[in-house]
Amino acid sequence: MQQAGELASVLCPSFILASVPSTDSSVTLVEVSPRDGLQNERQLLPASVKVGLVDRLSGAGFRAIEVTAFVSPTAVPQMADAADVMAQITRHAGVRYSVLTPNMRGLEGALAARADAICVFGAASESFSQRNINCSIAESLERFRPVVAAARAQGLVVRGTVSCALGCPYEGDVTPTAVARVAGELLAMGCDELSIADTIGVGTPESTRRVMESVLGIADVSRVNGHFHDTYGRALVNIDTCLDLGIRSFDSSVAGLGGCPFAPGATGNVATELILERLAARGFETGVDLAIVRDTGVWVRAQLLGR
Ligand code: HMG
Ligand code: MG
Repeated sequence: MQQAGELASVLCPSFILASVPSTDSSVTLVEVSPRDGLQNERQLLPASVKVGLVDRLSGAGFRAIEVTAFVSPTAVPQMADAADVMAQITRHAGVRYSVLTPNMRGLEGALAARADAICVFGAASESFSQRNINCSIAESLERFRPVVAAARAQGLVVRGTVSCALGCPYEGDVTPTAVARVAGELLAMGCDELSIADTIGVGTPESTRRVMESVLGIADVSRVNGHFHDTYGRALVNIDTCLDLGIRSFDSSVAGLGGCPFAPGATGNVATELILERLAARGFETGVDLAIVRDTGVWVRAQLLGR
């Protein structure tokens, strides 16, 4: 297998970043329940409930919330009200409200909705790329390039996600080299931040370490985020591994909601309640109020049960 430095020079020579593990005791949580959580629920919740969720999360102290997705309503009907939700949330100063944008049409929606940040979402596996966004990895990168450039020109923060970084529901194993290759392309086209995603929750501490070390060979640790689905209950130990590598940004989802309609068998994201407990026990600060998060989890579960 290629070493990280060797890989970096192959991928994007101009983008080799000296990655020094962070010793910072503060962790950024990006709350993704309004998007990743609700996109996978069978019933369509009214926009007012989604707005209520986002506003509760803002009140809990999150500095970054993934609100919705400007994607095809045929592909993901749960996100069809993206513009309405963005129009109705109460914005708190200092909170980054982000949205998913697979193409220029998505970016137009994001700009009209005054999103602070966008996310282009690619994959390290060809089959998942085809199922999720209906194109190959290479085509997706070409599609993202103008989206990233236009978003940056408008002053938006840009996240690039690499899905299936620890395994693919259709192909099985995915190599760290494949993950770093896509991550390197996303950085080189201008993404500010990389989200490395265990879409189906199959990572172990060992495979998580291999993949993250590969990514840290090409990206500064301050730009790397971990997104862990918790299918086999290993999200927290995988996050522990990331923390040991100096990564200080993670996605989380209240009540453990989440999943991708195009990743069969995967369950929700790591529950915000659990990651907050774990981080506090390890001495990390997030600025997020656990009591409000717990209440929000109970509230959103009740909404989903129609109570
Ligand atoms: P396509 O069929 O190749 O694109 O879909 P198209 O350009 O031919 O358009 C098809 C239809 O979608 C057209 O409508 C377009 O107007 C419409 P029609 O003429 O058939 O009525 N359309 C749009 N509508 C609204 N907003 C847009 C947009 N673009 C096209 N931006 C496309 C390609 C990417 C659009 C489609 O496959 C899609 O929207 N996929 C959604 C994928 C998705 O949202 N997946 C879940 C989120 S990713 C995830 O969960 C993983 C993550 O959590 C990390 C992890 O866990 O791995 C982030
Ligand atoms: Mg996800």
